[in-house]
Amino acid sequence: MAQEGTREVDAFVKAQTDRQTLRFITCGSVDDGKSTLIGRLLYESKNIFDDQLKALESDSKRYGTQGERVDLALLVDGLQAEREQGITIDVAYRFFATDKRRFIVADTPGHEQYTRNMATGASTAHVAVILVDARKGVLVQTRRHSRIVSMMGIRQVVLAVNKMDLVGYDEKVFRAIESDYRAFAADLGFEGLRSIPLSGLDGDNVINRSERMSWYSGPSLLGCLESVEIEEGSNMGPFRMPVQLVNRPDLDFRGFCGRISNGTVRPGDAVRVLPGGVRTTVKAVIDGFEAVEAADAGTSVTITLDDEVDASRGDVLVGADTPAEVADQFEARLLWMAEHAMSPGRQYLLKSACKEVTATVTGIKYREDVDTGAHLAAKTLELNGIGTVHLSTSAPIVFEPYARDRVLGSFILIDKLTFETVGAGMIQFALRRASNIHWQALEVDRGARAQLKHQTPRCIWFTGLSGSGKSTIASLLEKQLHAEGKHTYLLDGDNVRHGLNRDLGFTEADRVENIRRVAEVAKLMVDAGLVVIVSFISPFRSERRMARDLFAEGEFIEVFVDTPLEECERRDVKGLYAKARRGELTNFTGIDSAYEEPQAPEVHVRTMRSTVEESVEQVIRSLT
Ligand code: ADX
Repeated sequence: MAQEGTREVDAFVKAQTDRQTLRFITCGSVDDGKSTLIGRLLYESKNIFDDQLKALESDSKRYGTQGERVDLALLVDGLQAEREQGITIDVAYRFFATDKRRFIVADTPGHEQYTRNMATGASTAHVAVILVDARKGVLVQTRRHSRIVSMMGIRQVVLAVNKMDLVGYDEKVFRAIESDYRAFAADLGFEGLRSIPLSGLDGDNVINRSERMSWYSGPSLLGCLESVEIEEGSNMGPFRMPVQLVNRPDLDFRGFCGRISNGTVRPGDAVRVLPGGVRTTVKAVIDGFEAVEAADAGTSVTITLDDEVDASRGDVLVGADTPAEVADQFEARLLWMAEHAMSPGRQYLLKSACKEVTATVTGIKYREDVDTGAHLAAKTLELNGIGTVHLSTSAPIVFEPYARDRVLGSFILIDKLTFETVGAGMIQFALRRASNIHWQALEVDRGARAQLKHQTPRCIWFTGLSGSGKSTIASLLEKQLHAEGKHTYLLDGDNVRHGLNRDLGFTEADRVENIRRVAEVAKLMVDAGLVVIVSFISPFRSERRMARDLFAEGEFIEVFVDTPLEECERRDVKGLYAKARRGELTNFTGIDSAYEEPQAPEVHVRTMRSTVEESVEQVIRSLT
C-alpha cells in the first residue's frame, strides 16, 4: 500500500516536472479588463491560496465594483498597491497550472502609456494575448503593443476580444474586429494568430467554451494556451553561453558560469572564448553539483576548460567552428522608452547579455509609423517610438542577429546619469565600415608637442546661461595666458556655430551634436599641446560628462559661470531673452529649454559677487 502511494507520488511529481511551461504576456489598454481576465485565470485554475480567497471576498464587498460578486480585478490590482510602494518590481510574474501545462504570465501594469514594462515582459514570452474591448475595437495602443510584440520576436498571438457581454455576444462585432486586426497584423510576422470572443467578467470562453456564443467553434482562451506550440531556444543551433560569473574558489579550479542561450555543450567540445577568440576544449560541464554528459539551451551550468584561458563576465563561450559575430557598429531596431527623447550623439550605457559598454546612436535611418509601419524620416525618437538606427560601441561586443538569437541579439540602453532604462534594441546586423580604421600611432606625440611649448595642455570648459559672462571671462583669460607666453585657442559657441557647426540649431539633439563636435575638436587641440578654452552654454550634464571623459585626469577643468537667470535677462546683451519672451525664439536656454547646473565643477564663478578680473584669477589659480 505504502509502496503504491510512493509510486503515485512519483508519478505525480514526474507529471508535474514533465509539463511544459508556457510564458505569456497580456497587453491591453486602460480599462479593457486585463486584471479581471488574469484574475479569472488564476481563480478558476484554483491557484489562489485560501487566505487570499477570503481576503478577496471581503475586499470585493468593501471596494469591489461588482456588487455581490467577487471582483477578480482586486486579485491583481491588490498586488499593484504593493508595487506602488516600491516593494515589487515593474513586471510581476504570476504562476498557475493546469493538468496540461504550467503557465507564467508577465503582468505588466503601471502607467499604461509606457511600453517599458511591456517590452520587458515580452522579451521572454512565447505568446502574447492582445486584449481588445469589443466596444472599442483595435486602438492605437493595440497597434503599438502589437508592433512591440512582433519586434520582440513573439510569433504566436491571441487576439482576445473582451467584454462580449456588453455587445450582446454579437458575432458581427467580433468578426469585424478580427478582420480589422488581421489586416493590420499582416506584415508583423505572426505565425499563429487566433482570435477568441470572450468575457473576462462572466468567464465566457476563458476557461470553458461559452454557450452564449455558439457561433464560435474555436477553443477557450485557456484551451488555446494549453495547446499552442512552444518554441524554445533551439538545441540544434550553435552553442552559445554568455559568462555571468567566473567561479574561482581556489587556484586549482576555474569555472565559467552562465545560462546556455543556444545549442548543446558536452565535455570534449572545441570552443572559443569571444571576443578574444582563443580556442580550447571543454573539460567538464557541471549542472548543479553534478558533472553531466551534455547540457542544452536554457540550462544554467558551470563549464571548466582544458587550458588556462582568460575569460571574464560578459565574454561568450561559443562552438569553435560556429562562432558568433563580434563588432562595434550595428544596425538595430530600437524602441524608445523614456519620456526624454533620444539624442543621437549622446552616450548611453549599452547592456547586452552580460556585457556593459558605452554606446552612441550615430544615426537614425527611419522611424516607423505605428499604424502602417511606413518608414518616416526622423531626427530623434520620442517616447514609445520605434526606429531603425545605427549604433557605435566603445568596445566590440559579441552578438547574433535577433532573428537568430533573442539573448545575444538584444540589448538595452541606460541613461548614464540616472541609470534609467531608456531603450530596448534588437541587433539586425553589424556595420563593418569603420572597423578597419585603426588609430595611427604617430612619431611626434602630445608630450613632445607640449614640451616644445613649455606648457601643460588643458581643456578649460566654460558652461553657463546665455549672457552669463562666459565669453567675457574666457576672453580675458586667454589674453592673460597669452601674455604669459602660453599657446592657447578659444572655441566660442557663437563663432563655432558660424563654421563647423553651421548646420546645427538649438533643439536638444542639435545641442548634443554641437557639444560632441566641439569636445572632439578640443581634444585634438589638447593633443596638439594647446591650452584650449571652450565657451559654450553646454546645458546638459550628459554631454559635459562625455567631454570630460575624453580627457585625462586633471586635464579637463569645468568652469561654471553662475549668473542667475533674472540677471542674464536684465543684461540681455544680444536682446535674445526679450525675443524668447515674446515667443519669437524657441528652445531658448533658461526659458523653454533646460539648463542643468554642474554639480561639482572645478571652478564655480559667481558673477554677482566677483569682477571679471577676479573670476579670471580664480580660474588661473585652479591651473596650478
Ligand atoms: S549650446 O547650448 O549648444 O552649447 P552655444 O553655446 O553653442 O549653445 O550657442 C549659444 C549662443 O547661441 C547663445 O549665446 C546665443 O547667442 C545664441 N542663441 C541663439 N538661439 C539660441 C537659443 N535658442 N538658445 C540659446 N542660445 C541661442
